[in-house]
Amino acid sequence: MPSPALLHIDASIRASGSVSRELSARFAAQWRRRHPGAGHTYRDLAADPVPHLTHAVREALLDPDGDHGEPPQERALTEALTAEVRAATTVVIGAPMYNYAIPSTLKAWLDRLVTPAHMVAPGAGPGPLGGASVVVVTARGGSYAPGTPREGWDHQEPYLRAVLGSIGLADDLAFVHAELTTARTVPAMAALRPLAEKSLAVAYEAVDRLAR
Ligand SMILES: Cc1cc2nc3c(=O)[nH]c(=O)nc-3n(C[C@H](O)[C@H](O)[C@H](O)COP(=O)(O)O)c2cc1C
Repeated sequence: MPSPALLHIDASIRASGSVSRELSARFAAQWRRRHPGAGHTYRDLAADPVPHLTHAVREALLDPDGDHGEPPQERALTEALTAEVRAATTVVIGAPMYNYAIPSTLKAWLDRLVTPAHMVAPGAGPGPLGGASVVVVTARGGSYAPGTPREGWDHQEPYLRAVLGSIGLADDLAFVHAELTTARTVPAMAALRPLAEKSLAVAYEAVDRLAR
């Protein structure tokens, strides 16, 4: 049995007032209380972004033993990001919705992990990255629930299910969505505030349940 270790990722560009940061921090705090002394790594992809892929970096991901001219710090970063995922038994990802999808900073992080060496066939078991439990907490200004006008515009959950599944991280994957977060501040959405509060309360409950 691997020792319990938490990898906590945030991606909101807001350092304060971020709902996804609040939810991921709530999960992490409870998880750490339940696992005193366990490993814990925090990555803030907004404060410390992973650079976009270059051709040399991508070539090195495809052929780690070759010389592709990538700067040494790029290789070290890829290795550190990979090691953090490998070591984790639980990963919590705070993912704000930007333009119906994940932040590009989170995509840049994923681009370092999705390599042929890490990919697994659907249902083929944990794979080289280890098969951690993954909890994704999202925050979005609108609602994408069934029956809403933008049902089907959520390109976060389907994408993350697919990409995390491709590297063996979707066997124990849960999503928690806090919706209508902009109702707090946008006057035109004032009528939706009760629904926004309900969504946040349900998200808190889900995070508390998942952290248990
Ligand atoms: C650049 C940007 C793009 C956004 N795009 C969307 C969007 O497509 N759909 C949506 O519902 N909300 C959108 N929002 C609102 C955010 O999803 C919302 O404010 C959310 O709470 C952000 O997460 P955070 O609270 O963790 O910062 C966007 C916000 C920003 C800053």
